[in-house]
Amino acid sequence: MINNPKLLPIHIYGDKVLRQRAKEVEQLTDDIKLFINDLTHTMYIRDGVGLAAPQVGVSLRIFVIDTEWFKTDEKNPKVFINPQIIDMEDEEINEEGCLSLPNIFENVKRYKSIKIKALNENWEEVEYYAQGFLSVAIQHEFDHLNGVLFVDKIQQIRKLIIKKALNDLASTTDSEGNNIRYD
Ligand code: NI
Repeated sequence: MINNPKLLPIHIYGDKVLRQRAKEVEQLTDDIKLFINDLTHTMYIRDGVGLAAPQVGVSLRIFVIDTEWFKTDEKNPKVFINPQIIDMEDEEINEEGCLSLPNIFENVKRYKSIKIKALNENWEEVEYYAQGFLSVAIQHEFDHLNGVLFVDKIQQIRKLIIKKALNDLASTTDSEGNNIRYD
């Protein structure tokens, strides 16, 4: 790890950056390397298992995932740059949450297993076959790169039930469309 990573502010529901299609990363510059380090640090500090660049206000196709660290206390972040889901199989329903939607947890239907290819933090091509929680986390973070949030995928009745909670979250959005949480 590079020294002194920064804690980045989380953009929450209502913020326009969460609804944009993030841009491809064209090359691995020093700035991008530092950013990935900050993104990873922020995921751990905020107790996340995944964090996508748009969630910290950076509209680039990058996310990090570590679905095991809270069980083992060992940190093994997986970095995905310009990811592509190249295969998917079967479906399953799991409860999800998101750092950009604090205190909201809902059931979402996802593919049970997927194959994904991406570039890693060293700009090497990597391919993963993922199942279970890792597969869910990858699909959730991948959606963030396309401006999609997990609450877009829940049942209509549940959408109605959590409508007020969503409106409350969005109510702190400023006139420029930013809704940033600093705590
Ligand atoms: Ni999320």
